[in-house]
Amino acid sequence: MTFAEKTRRLGVCYYPEHWPREWWADDAARMIAMGITQVRVGEFAWSRIEPESGRFDWTWLDEAIDVFDRAGLAIVLCTPTATPPKWLVDAMPDMIAIDAVGKPRRFGSRRHYCFSHEGYRRESRRITRAVAERYGRHRAVVAWQTDNEYGCHDTVLSWSPAALAAFRRWLSERYVDIDALNAAWGNVFWSMEYRSFDEIDLPNLTVTEANPAHVLDFRRFSSWQVKEFNREQCLILRESSPGRDLTHNFMGFVTDFDHHDLAEDLDVAAWDSYPLGFLEQFWFGDDDKHRYARQGHPDVSAFHHDLYRGVGRGRWWVMEQQPGPVNWARYNPAPLPGMVRLWSLEAFAHGAEVVSYFRWRQAPFAQEQMHAGLLRPDRVDDVAALEVRETAAALSHFAVDSSTTAEVALIFDYQAEWMTAIQPQGAGFSALRVCFEWYSALRQLGLDIDILPPAAELSGYRMIVVPCLPVIPDTLVDKLRAVEATVIYGPRTGSKTGQFSIPHNLPPGELQSLLPIKVVRVESLREGLVEPGADFSVSRWFEHVESALPPELRLHDGRGVLFRQGSHRYLAGMVDPGTLHKIFRQMASEVGVGIRDMPEGVRTRRFGKLRFVFNHCAESRSIDALLPKDAALLVGMRELDAAGVAAWIDDGIRK
Ligand code: GAL
Repeated sequence: MTFAEKTRRLGVCYYPEHWPREWWADDAARMIAMGITQVRVGEFAWSRIEPESGRFDWTWLDEAIDVFDRAGLAIVLCTPTATPPKWLVDAMPDMIAIDAVGKPRRFGSRRHYCFSHEGYRRESRRITRAVAERYGRHRAVVAWQTDNEYGCHDTVLSWSPAALAAFRRWLSERYVDIDALNAAWGNVFWSMEYRSFDEIDLPNLTVTEANPAHVLDFRRFSSWQVKEFNREQCLILRESSPGRDLTHNFMGFVTDFDHHDLAEDLDVAAWDSYPLGFLEQFWFGDDDKHRYARQGHPDVSAFHHDLYRGVGRGRWWVMEQQPGPVNWARYNPAPLPGMVRLWSLEAFAHGAEVVSYFRWRQAPFAQEQMHAGLLRPDRVDDVAALEVRETAAALSHFAVDSSTTAEVALIFDYQAEWMTAIQPQGAGFSALRVCFEWYSALRQLGLDIDILPPAAELSGYRMIVVPCLPVIPDTLVDKLRAVEATVIYGPRTGSKTGQFSIPHNLPPGELQSLLPIKVVRVESLREGLVEPGADFSVSRWFEHVESALPPELRLHDGRGVLFRQGSHRYLAGMVDPGTLHKIFRQMASEVGVGIRDMPEGVRTRRFGKLRFVFNHCAESRSIDALLPKDAALLVGMRELDAAGVAAWIDDGIRK
């Protein structure tokens, strides 16, 4: 068992290079006093570690690490490759990425590199080795974070000469024969046939849309480059720093590379949780944006907790937790009092080993000077400091049984999101968004959910939902045939081959062996255009299905929307949320899964023997109906305050 698995703990992101040395020891002592036992250091510090090519200055970092160690803090060190210094960019100007319209993404902020540039890959290995050899066996170093937020600021896809050369190599290894590629992509269409791999360009700057198969392969290639970049660092870290956990801080709603794939080289998945920024920046309507402005959407953090638990094969952290207003969303309100505690406890209830705050102290300079920390720039505690202390006091609840078993498996695949982004067919159609909406509907019924890749083990779940999975991997159909669960597939599932074509037997392709239906036409519907049924409606997306099965739900005009054979169902459109609830409710009752109707804005999660309830509302909520009559609350009250958390021992028997 590693250090990480032994304890649930609080951490913080700290930048010794931002502060006078005389402050470090005091900061470390105050962290410990606050209940923080882990500190993350170094992810942007390359210019201070190596001020000039080959000249290293370790003195400050030696001293900082020593200060933390003496204070009793565990250290997560980072490779500093998200911020290559100026001297390096000047020495290798072509290491920067090029955007889709051909413009360079210059030095002056961060993430200014192209994953395909061989010179930068060498530099990444060199600096990783230097840091790992210096500190890899230090007793205080318990883990490593590779780089920082791969993909942040739209940096996975690079349209550079280095990317082009590497893409051609990747294609020639994958297809071997150019005719095989022409056939796979359907290049006979519009005379797009190539005579050799060297003729292939990146799929940008075309007159109209590029061939979707070409774009999909470019996205697969780009994802693989991120994985390879990360793997090279991991190999060095494993060698020079044995026994330490390797992690990376993934992001919210960022899908540009396959996290399941990359995480094969990690021990722990971590992610950066900024609930207020995410609500403001993503697809939510104005009502939600107002209602949850200071709390964040009640399902967004949980969605990522459940996703990253799967990405980390059970082990995951929150590496950066929002402590107050951020600086990067369109509007940046302050969290409601209590929310920092709620977000932290909710993460632990979903199985996080660590919740680490970003950042210790607000920086008075540069890009993020408007971003709150646990301390104000004048070193006085900011609002969140108190809530961190309260969270630390509640950690004992997570000390014992840490199982986070879920009743429902939700299948999410990164490639599905690439495919719907490449070919939305209706404005804004997104596989990720469909997954989120189904997840949210299941959570409103009080269900615990694991978000898993298609390759995951599925036995043991009683409900399996596949919201949108255009390509069905070979093994999945057999796996789904064998499970004892009730299963539902959503629109566009099975609609494509791996080469981005329509399956020869029409959608849902291989799924037809589980459910005899054929999707013969699809329609996307503009906002406001709805297809009515008796007590439900379909909007945004509708599929015309041919089948001898009598539909379980049909539109007024008789066309089927929900088809079922045995324990498998197919939903051929986007139905209103109430109808989605009804379908899930029915499925749950067929397999004996109990549901708990959540009051609006209230959510629940089981952790070991504890049942937690979280009130994401700005006003109090009664949770009486959720509590067994004789339950004694360990945390919180039956009338749960705004941003309140309650917990009781739940023996699993519904009363
Ligand atoms: C994260 C990033 C941090 C910091 C933070 C601000 O995306 O990893 O370095 O920029 O956002 O919210």
